[in-house]
Amino acid sequence: MLNPRLPKIWYGGDYNPEQWDPSVMEEDVRMFKVAGIDVATVNVFSWAKLQPDEETYRFEELDNVMDRLYRDGIYVCLATSTGAHPAWMARKYPDVLRVDHMGRKRKFGGRHNSCPNSPTYRLYSARLAEKLAERYAGHPGLLLWHVSNEYGGYCYCDLCAAAFRAWLRERYQDLDTLNRMWYTSFWGHTFYDWDEIVPPNELSEEWGRSRSTFQTISLDYRRFQSDSLLACYRLEYSELKKYTPDIAVTTNMMGTYPELDYFRWAPYLDVISWDNYPSHNTPFSFTAMTHDLMRGLKGGQPFMLMEQTPSQQNWQPYNALKRPGVMRLWSYQAVARGADTVMFFQLRRSIGACEKFHGAVIEHVGHEHTRVFQECAELGRELQGLADRLLDARVEAKAAVVFDWENRWAVELSSGPSVDLKYVDEVHKYYDALYQLHIQTNMIGVEEDFARYELIIAPVLYMLKPGVAEKIRRFVERGGIFVTTFFSGIVNEQDIVTVGGYPGELRSLLGIWVEEIDALPPGQMNELVLTERGQPSELKRQRYSCGLLCDLIHSEGAEVAAVYGTDFYQGMPAVTVNRYGKGQAWYVGSSPEPEFMQGLLANLCAEKGIAPVLDAPSGVEVTQRSKAGKTYTFILNHRAEAVEVTLPDSPMTELLTGVSCSRVLRVEGRGVAILESGPSFDRF
Ligand code: GLA
Ligand code: ZN
Repeated sequence: MLNPRLPKIWYGGDYNPEQWDPSVMEEDVRMFKVAGIDVATVNVFSWAKLQPDEETYRFEELDNVMDRLYRDGIYVCLATSTGAHPAWMARKYPDVLRVDHMGRKRKFGGRHNSCPNSPTYRLYSARLAEKLAERYAGHPGLLLWHVSNEYGGYCYCDLCAAAFRAWLRERYQDLDTLNRMWYTSFWGHTFYDWDEIVPPNELSEEWGRSRSTFQTISLDYRRFQSDSLLACYRLEYSELKKYTPDIAVTTNMMGTYPELDYFRWAPYLDVISWDNYPSHNTPFSFTAMTHDLMRGLKGGQPFMLMEQTPSQQNWQPYNALKRPGVMRLWSYQAVARGADTVMFFQLRRSIGACEKFHGAVIEHVGHEHTRVFQECAELGRELQGLADRLLDARVEAKAAVVFDWENRWAVELSSGPSVDLKYVDEVHKYYDALYQLHIQTNMIGVEEDFARYELIIAPVLYMLKPGVAEKIRRFVERGGIFVTTFFSGIVNEQDIVTVGGYPGELRSLLGIWVEEIDALPPGQMNELVLTERGQPSELKRQRYSCGLLCDLIHSEGAEVAAVYGTDFYQGMPAVTVNRYGKGQAWYVGSSPEPEFMQGLLANLCAEKGIAPVLDAPSGVEVTQRSKAGKTYTFILNHRAEAVEVTLPDSPMTELLTGVSCSRVLRVEGRGVAILESGPSFDRF
């Protein structure tokens, strides 16, 4: 449990009373009570108020906020405020200011703006964390620490350059090794002195957001910047732990955010928390995948939904309102997938600067008689009713999809074969197929224990880090089904090609050799034509379209499940399966239409006895959490109209209504049901 002081699903969010006259807080607290809000995340951006100069710290205002909230039973998730440095610090110690990708030294402004290798930033951020911990260690309202805010962005300053060189020395020891590992014989890049190495940006190797002449340098810079920000987080973490060893520490993450390797960060967070901001056209399965990824960062441990908007955002091009019921539905989507908190940005809407048109529980009108407030209050009552029932419940899955940030960096930095190849999209296509089939899925890193799974899908596993190929081989040998795709097994962790035929280290396991890779321009497609081997039950058609990339494959023992339908490689293998040990290794050589993926994965799940949670119509999400002999089945109707779902014949109670359910359950448009049943949820 996150903190036994509040043994229920925490409900609340970011609260910025520092933007208001203290008297407003009286009204806020009254309304929080009406809405069932029991947690406020405070002090997220208060550094400049807390510390007017090097020596002075002023905590009285924060003392009052903490005390006032606690007096009415509202707990605090206390942020350390280090997500934006004070203006005086930037003026006096310009080393805190970043240098951007264009090589320009920034001036004071914005947020998430500190150089992670600035001695000033490190000194004063750690000191502020220490002061806060010292002061509030004994406060009965303190539930959790929230370090900084949404770490991200890179810096290219001279301090970072020096720290990069030190990081490289540690990694490669000597320049000969570095030159080899970076392949610097290309374009005359041999380095003779560490000081010759400069950060890769628009002034050196990179152009645009992810184009680079030297991918390995760019890749290492991403690793290094991610590590640098992590080091800042860890400095604050250790200060907080000195005074409050038992209070959990987190920082709010951002799902599939590209710049940080969250798998490397996760061991240093006590609990994962993240900010969920889908746009009006984000597929529900994409949000589901992101929740699963956040849950996967710490091996399935429940996470926190730290932020979502109650109604709309301000920073998207089109900030659509969440339709009635959607805020509740998406809140339960998070809970269904492992969240033990439902929190908003923000509780009261600011009236100045760039977030004044961002939705909030309390809108500019200032009272509770609004649609948004009423929906929030309704959800608050429901969460109170659920009490501690769902806390710590786990999601059990036999299928897993691999996600890897370093691999993603390498794929997206790659010059060729196609600018349209987007790692996250390819991962999502496979995840979506399992989602549509209502198969419980874990999102896992390559470090995860593969033995827990029956089916592992690793789309576009371009980079094989040391030991991963061997792990996959053992997984298949023992009976697992492994599925990978085009553009896999191509390089090692240095982005250097594994010679001797693609897919490199996976070649013998997959029983194939890929001779060439064709990139299809937009609009051009090929076809997968299923052979008899490839066409069992769930693949109903013989032909499916495919595109993006087409690998020209030779079988070296693998069975051919599909061949290409057109072009000069018509008839060559496109999808293959190699029986290896007790398992199977599948290779999908192109990016197929969704029906193919669903059919293929339905077949593979059936072979492994991995059953859907329930049979439900499309647009209806079903997923389960379980704990202490109970199973909680969530039915989330993303459609606007009511649906009927057939349930197994076992006794169940719907928790939000308290009604026992019989075989057919009606779920309203955008409605939610949570069914509690015994340990074995009998399928049909
Ligand atoms: C992020 C930040 C918040 C706020 C919201 C607005 O998640 O953490 O401070 O700016 O975005 O959507
Ligand atoms: Zn810097």
